[in-house]
Amino acid sequence: MEKIIISGGRPLNGEIPVSGFKNAAVAIVLATILTEDKCIIENLPQISDVTISLEILRSMGVRIKYINKTTAEIDSTFVKPDLAPYELVRKMRASYYLVGSLLGRFKKAVVGLPGGCDFGVRPIDQHIKGFEALGSKVTVESGCIEADATKGLVGTNIYMDVVSVGATINVMLAAVKADGVTVIENAAHEPHVVDTANFLNACGADISGAGTDTIKIRGVKNLHGATYAIIPDMIEAGTYLIAGAATGGKLRVTNLIPKHLDSLTAKLEEMGVTLIEEDEAITVISDGKLNRANIKTQPYPGFPTDLNPQMGVLLCLAQGTSILTEGVWENRFRYVEELKRMGAKIKVDGRTAVVEGVGALSGAGVRALDLRAGAAMIVAGLAATGRTTIEEIFHIQRGYEDIIEKLQAVGADIRMVTIPDNIYEKAN
Ligand code: EPZ
Repeated sequence: MEKIIISGGRPLNGEIPVSGFKNAAVAIVLATILTEDKCIIENLPQISDVTISLEILRSMGVRIKYINKTTAEIDSTFVKPDLAPYELVRKMRASYYLVGSLLGRFKKAVVGLPGGCDFGVRPIDQHIKGFEALGSKVTVESGCIEADATKGLVGTNIYMDVVSVGATINVMLAAVKADGVTVIENAAHEPHVVDTANFLNACGADISGAGTDTIKIRGVKNLHGATYAIIPDMIEAGTYLIAGAATGGKLRVTNLIPKHLDSLTAKLEEMGVTLIEEDEAITVISDGKLNRANIKTQPYPGFPTDLNPQMGVLLCLAQGTSILTEGVWENRFRYVEELKRMGAKIKVDGRTAVVEGVGALSGAGVRALDLRAGAAMIVAGLAATGRTTIEEIFHIQRGYEDIIEKLQAVGADIRMVTIPDNIYEKAN
């Protein structure tokens, strides 16, 4: 079993490069099923969610060739639609994009229900609503979602009852080769929705309005291959900016799109952090003195829910009491129990957390409960006095490429150790 060990209290100084965006990469990799050609996808992050996505495709007969560490050639010419392996599909939430892609190309899809981070119910009713509106018959039984549109997919107007990143992207995937025009209203605006639309357009699709409330998709007959570079990961970037603010020092986070982080940088400045913005980098300068703040997570361009846990750590270090409200998921505060082991004083009531500024956290043994909660434990360990050990770090490896090496390069005393599993059996 692997653990992360951090000796905290050291300011971060230097440069951290951001990798490709996990949530864009998993969508675009699975969207290659729609093309009957080779695609070259660049700036792929080396993370387990991308590895799993590529493994799923490979087991379906897609030919994958890594050209270099972050570039893969994906040839979906001979993909076999009924071979999505359940043991891989269940490992990540984004597997549901297989339904939209297979439906879009073959007019039929049978896929195991996805897994992913556990912060409450993660329904797919809006995905199903979109697929049915396009003319497919959808059944969900014995852990599988089956969509059948053998009579064809016909473009239509779909109003999303909930702003959903996954449903917006999945309906786009199913609609790109439908007969006629599909309009998605109340669509998600996230940059990874735009990135997926841009990739599909590079393959010959006809999508307009991505990034706004209304996305129009004119069905085309075929999609050819394309060479496409994934956008930088705004959540990875935000995690490092928060880590810089939490530990003090001067940290330049490079290879990012500042616009994607407007809601975070505005909040960090409100908390007294100095930020220097360049075309593709942001430098955070902090003396460790932080003002309290109130934050409510919202769909983009609001404050990202995926930075809730990391920001929860920062608010513990601020002077005064802050309010952190989760506006997207029903329970994104599971990390609070772990943070309390480090001295945090947080009261959670439903979707609202009242965070008392305790000035400093102290190192402890904690667990990564999901991907972003795990990242938050790293931020807490970096800022805390003393030693922090983090278990169940496979969650973190799903979405942060080389996080140990990147942090070591800017002065963090952080390392990963492997503990023989049997040591725990004896202890029990
Ligand atoms: C994506 O999940 C991200 N995952 C999540 O990031 C992120 O937290 C989320 O978007 C919100 O930004 C990927 O992109 C792989 P949603 P997704 O559909 O698409 C409700 C991370 O850490 N809803 O936008 O599953 C849902 O319950 C992960 O990288 C329905 O009611 O999220 C939630 O309250 C964690 N019905 C809200 O919408 C549906 O059919 C937003 O969910 C779908 C969603």
